[in-house]
Amino acid sequence: MPATVVIGAQWGDEGKGKVVDLLAERSDVVARYQGGNNAGHTIVAGDQTYALHLIPSGILYPDTTCIIGNGVVVDPFVLVRELDQLEERGVDTSNLRISGNAHLIMPYHVQLDTQSEIRLGKLSIGTTRRGIGPAYMDKAARIGIRAQDLLDASILRRKVAIALEQKNEVLTKIYGEPPLDADVVAGEVLALASRIAPFIADTSLLLDTAIRDEQTVLFEGAQGTLLDIDHGTYPFVTSSNPTAGAACTGTGVGPTRIDHVLGISKAYTTRVGEGPFPTEIDDAAARHMAEVGHEVGTTTGRARRCGWLDLVALRYAVRVSGMTQLGLTKLDVLSGLPEVRLCTAYVKPDGTETTEFPWHQSDFHSCTPVYETLEGWDDDIVGVTSLDDLPPRARAYVERIAQFTGVPITLIGTGQGRHEVIDNVEL
Ligand code: IMP
Repeated sequence: MPATVVIGAQWGDEGKGKVVDLLAERSDVVARYQGGNNAGHTIVAGDQTYALHLIPSGILYPDTTCIIGNGVVVDPFVLVRELDQLEERGVDTSNLRISGNAHLIMPYHVQLDTQSEIRLGKLSIGTTRRGIGPAYMDKAARIGIRAQDLLDASILRRKVAIALEQKNEVLTKIYGEPPLDADVVAGEVLALASRIAPFIADTSLLLDTAIRDEQTVLFEGAQGTLLDIDHGTYPFVTSSNPTAGAACTGTGVGPTRIDHVLGISKAYTTRVGEGPFPTEIDDAAARHMAEVGHEVGTTTGRARRCGWLDLVALRYAVRVSGMTQLGLTKLDVLSGLPEVRLCTAYVKPDGTETTEFPWHQSDFHSCTPVYETLEGWDDDIVGVTSLDDLPPRARAYVERIAQFTGVPITLIGTGQGRHEVIDNVEL
């Protein structure tokens, strides 16, 4: 797999971290292209569990170069904390590179994210309150601070002063908060500059060279398709594009350089935060998914909402990212359920049925799922690594998903551990 994009096909938390971790073992470069520390990957490697939010999970392999691309928003405090934590546990971080064009999440972005959510009240988005949206807002408004600004204290101080002129108006007049002192804010961030500076590089050039040299490159998406600001369930979305196209704009490589797009979906569906979720359930099966699947957010600790696998939404995810294959994670979680359901159509509020993802928000918000019900399986499949060891009913479930979505399933997750996976298959 020379250049592959790995992306979430649902609302995030599909287990991409584990898949990227697995593929990173065979990759020369792993690059993140959007999002920030709103993401969270838990990787179980031997007796160690790592919870990473910003640094690509490939960092655990000493020979893999890890890139934080220009499309990522970087909280410098979180970055330094993660670097320290990894280094304390003996992980070599010297292969990390950060695009000089990546925007920084400043302390006022975190504050504004929180204040905005409080003010929205019942209409809140349920953000991770990590400052993601406000940082992307400043990027678009062209008053953002970039990683390269850390290399020139006077530029950084000037930019922070310009940004705070506006932010302080908002903080004081709209939110009734005290104003922030530009020198103090700039000083706090600059105190981290010498720690971060060695990692800042021209990552677009680095990726181009790697692809030219036929190295194996992995583009690691954060969040998922339905949280995409353009193609997701707006406004209950994140402020970037997790879909595959952003792998190019978020790292500085052209679309002709990408060979494969691997979409990752859970064997069921979860969502954190607010927003529509047609196949959400609140019954014994949901409790089973939540308990067995440990459905609690890595970043915020919030309980995830659970539901059946939505094939209409999954096929839509395949379409908007041009996915060439799918990885299905957490199949083991469904073991023990008497029956399993797949949503294959929606009934829209006008009574008509559709198998396509509705483009109009009201249709999606008010649609009712149409299910196909399959028999469940009792066998414990944790740790199964061969298709031959899958119970026929579990296999039938996977085959139906591949058939409906029209792309092969090449990977099936059967447990939390790094190698608890059926890999290199085609169903
Ligand atoms: P934000 O990205 O913090 O602005 O949050 C916007 C929406 O995206 C909220 O509903 C969050 O719960 C959701 N979100 C952001 N990052 C993740 C993630 O990594 N997994 C799942 N949901 C996420």
